[in-house]
Amino acid sequence: MATQLFEGKEHASCYQKFRFEPTQEILDLIFSYVDERLHKPYGFAVDVGCGTGQNTRVFSPYFKKVLGIDISEAQIEEAKKATGSPNVTYSVCSAEEMSVGDASVDLLTASIAAHWFTTETFLKEVDRVLKPGGCIAISSYFANAEIHYKDSTEQMTEVYAEVLNSLAPYMHEKITNMRTKYKEMYESIPYPDKRRIENIGTKIRVPLSSLMGLFTTFSAFHIYLRKEPEKAKEMLRTAEERFLRIMGTSSTDTEVEIWLQNLLLLASKPQ
Ligand SMILES: C[S@@+](CC[C@H](N)C(=O)[O-])C[C@H]1O[C@@H](n2cnc3c(N)ncnc32)[C@H](O)[C@@H]1O
Repeated sequence: MATQLFEGKEHASCYQKFRFEPTQEILDLIFSYVDERLHKPYGFAVDVGCGTGQNTRVFSPYFKKVLGIDISEAQIEEAKKATGSPNVTYSVCSAEEMSVGDASVDLLTASIAAHWFTTETFLKEVDRVLKPGGCIAISSYFANAEIHYKDSTEQMTEVYAEVLNSLAPYMHEKITNMRTKYKEMYESIPYPDKRRIENIGTKIRVPLSSLMGLFTTFSAFHIYLRKEPEKAKEMLRTAEERFLRIMGTSSTDTEVEIWLQNLLLLASKPQ
């Protein structure tokens, strides 16, 4: 199911344009944990469910080698196009069967992806590939965001929530159950040194056009588009018009601020 949801070339190209890199707050939390457990220089990082590589590339300055893996060929193809760092490579494979050697990985990350994985097999695979003392950083943000614009935050957030409501019938249960899934995943991590950090607030400033683009990356939007193309496009057109009216502008270059709630699971394999 996951493969089918992310394998379209058009979907992958929306991903490359409109998905965000992890914010500095998330990177700081990851590195304050990792710095206490790994010795510098850091060796090998693997980003699982890497999509078009937003969360993969950011690790390249910190590690000798970074590998992004994803089950979708289209996503990996897009990720490869964007790579500017010689120490970053990509490979098509699943989180449950990684093309990675035993006890070779210093840091394994998964950003907005682990809710798609089969927890038990994924965690077994993580245990196989991690070096003793190696770390895991699994993060995600949740769809229900606040959209801030001057004194119109309430109205803007209402339009955003209505878009999510229109997409709700097309949402995969793995999205609807994201919070529960991460709780289950945290409890299933077999290492005593583990941490769950919830309610990490992050703010991302983007032009309205990018917020509209973000909707086109949602898997539910792609299902809606496949089933009812005209209705799906009309829903986004109407939402954009409403945003513009509330903002009192005709330009989709006008910036809004997206406030997201994030979660981060950190763990380290015993030495
Ligand atoms: C929501 S995207 C996140 C992409 C990227 N990590 C980011 O931060 O934007 C989820 C990705 O997980 C991948 N995926 C889903 N199930 C997978 C699995 N079992 N193994 C590997 N990748 C998987 C999808 O193909 C998709 O690219």
